[in-house]
Amino acid sequence: MSMSDLAAVAKAMVADGKGILAADESGATIGKRFAALDIESTEENRRLYRTTLLGTPGIEEVVSGVILYDETIRQKADDGSTIPEFLIGKGILPGIKVDTGSKPLPLCPGEQVTEGLDGLRERIAEYVAMGAKFAKWRAVIVIDEANGLPSDTAIRCNAHALARYGALCQEGGLVPIIEPEVLMDGDNDIDTCYDVTLRTQRRVFWELAQLRIELGGMILKPNMVVSGKKCATQASPEEVAEKTLRCLYHSVPPAVPGIAFLSVGQPADVATLHLDLMNKLGPHPWQLTFSYGRALQDEALRTWRGAPDNVAEAQKVFTHRAALAGAARSATYDPSLESGDLALVAATATQD
Ligand code: 13P
Repeated sequence: MSMSDLAAVAKAMVADGKGILAADESGATIGKRFAALDIESTEENRRLYRTTLLGTPGIEEVVSGVILYDETIRQKADDGSTIPEFLIGKGILPGIKVDTGSKPLPLCPGEQVTEGLDGLRERIAEYVAMGAKFAKWRAVIVIDEANGLPSDTAIRCNAHALARYGALCQEGGLVPIIEPEVLMDGDNDIDTCYDVTLRTQRRVFWELAQLRIELGGMILKPNMVVSGKKCATQASPEEVAEKTLRCLYHSVPPAVPGIAFLSVGQPADVATLHLDLMNKLGPHPWQLTFSYGRALQDEALRTWRGAPDNVAEAQKVFTHRAALAGAARSATYDPSLESGDLALVAATATQD
């Protein structure tokens, strides 16, 4: 794939009114989410769950791409097509998580580095042959002020790995989603999150430049700038929107076509409101959209609960959530829509 083809895919990933569904939970993560709802985590149950989401009628109106896990990209939809074929048939771009998870960073207690570079060139070729158009690699940065974290070592190692991965993707024909996630689990305030996110993103873009990444052929997937979950003072949605934007304006070159946020475990309505507020403050140099996992899926998973009889209701709930995210992507969300008529909300987002 040429650089202009990569740029076309990147643009399509953040097309007007659309965002990305992250459905790439590892076997361990989906296992935990299933266990919490007493759903047995068998390969077939994971297939049934993922095909329930992906088979939801009309999601292509607001979902440009889906990030898949290695197991899922090899599975089939009920009609016998492979999952990538099924998605492409709906006009949705298939993507693939290619990192192999985060491991303790040696000599840096409490910090992690994401692995998966060994053999990545060959895995990328295999995924491209299966129909994948983009990839994802998630780096995690921990804030722990009492222990002086994050260290520069952790930020540099993770940024370098992201750039090595990004270069391999562009060489092999996949658009890399570059995901440096600053975790929000601590008791730090929003300003500490701002400082760490800015430091991280600046280092990431320095490494991307060193490794000759074509910025037009990538998507950034950052955290929003928020207060730590255990912080006594929680920033208002307006402050989150303003500080997240300020951080992006000071670190992300305008040549990047799009920024697709993760939800980082924020409640779905909160993640949706934050995205909407940022888009209402636009236009911006980049498209601002979602690449949510939990904020799109949680309610649908609770509704499905592994029962075939619940598929239609789970799809209805998922449609509603996706339509709300689509509205936030178009700056037309309002919290009152949360309890609105599902079909009406979906139709509104469809017209955007
Ligand atoms: P959440 O939206 O659930 O944070 O996850 C998205 C994701 O892809 C994490 O890597």
